[in-house]
Amino acid sequence: MKCAVITGGGGGLGAAIAARLSRDGLQLALFDRDAQSTRVVAQNCRDAKVFELDILDEAALASTLVTLGEPPDILVNNAGVTAGGGLDQPLEDFRRILEVNLVGAYVLSRLVAPRMAQRGSGVIVNITSGASVATAPSVGGYGPSKAALANLTRAFALRYAPHGVRMNAVAPGFIAAGMGAGNAADPDLVLRREARIPARRLGTPEDVAGVVAFLASDEARYIHGQEIVVDGGLTIAALANTLD
Ligand SMILES: NC(=O)c1ccc[n+]([C@@H]2O[C@H](COP(=O)([O-])OP(=O)(O)OC[C@H]3O[C@@H](n4cnc5c(N)ncnc54)[C@H](O)[C@@H]3O)[C@@H](O)[C@H]2O)c1
Repeated sequence: MKCAVITGGGGGLGAAIAARLSRDGLQLALFDRDAQSTRVVAQNCRDAKVFELDILDEAALASTLVTLGEPPDILVNNAGVTAGGGLDQPLEDFRRILEVNLVGAYVLSRLVAPRMAQRGSGVIVNITSGASVATAPSVGGYGPSKAALANLTRAFALRYAPHGVRMNAVAPGFIAAGMGAGNAADPDLVLRREARIPARRLGTPEDVAGVVAFLASDEARYIHGQEIVVDGGLTIAALANTLD
């Protein structure tokens, strides 16, 4: 049975990605610092183990991977954080966002990718954000962290493609779950956002999970180093407006 490691498996998008990959027949290892919410997610999956850890803790990650034995067939770097304050946010928030969203994915990928390469197969999917493609002052360190993760995705893809390992990214737009749930609960904000999204609705975590499952599958076997934007057309609309 194939195995997938999902970081941030206890969060809004992590739960949907876990449910989808479980339905696709994968055994799951959910890595999250929040064990309580992750256990709830695991209960809705057929075969999922919960590992309470911080993705910045390299030693804990390494020993957990030893516990798992074989390197995972699929790694989804999904754990992420954001913070308010835009470009005036406290420096420690800016640093923390870069650490978790960028360095965290790097630490785990550099442990897993060489072992996948040794086996000759493996897929890594990084969850970036529409903010990596079309940024705004309000996102503070979040946009730079995700843009850097998209760049890192291409670098890993180049290095490991010859060894049968693929790395790609999925960039969600406004999703009504997880860190987007608060905004989705504000009806005025939802109306304003829906008016700007060509598909005229916020995204669901399942919209994102379906693309992760596709990239993780053999159907995507010739896709390397891409960032697939899942945002109902929001970023292409932003680009079209500037050209009008
Ligand atoms: N929800 C959205 O609208 C949206 C849009 C674009 C991108 N994203 C991205 O999707 C991913 C998932 O976000 P979400 O919306 O599900 O948010 P969420 O807050 O519900 O989930 C994030 C999960 O990551 C875990 N986590 C955070 N830091 C960690 C660390 N250091 N070690 C281990 N676990 C850690 C949290 O405990 C949480 O369970 C993130 O990378 C986020 O940036 C979300």
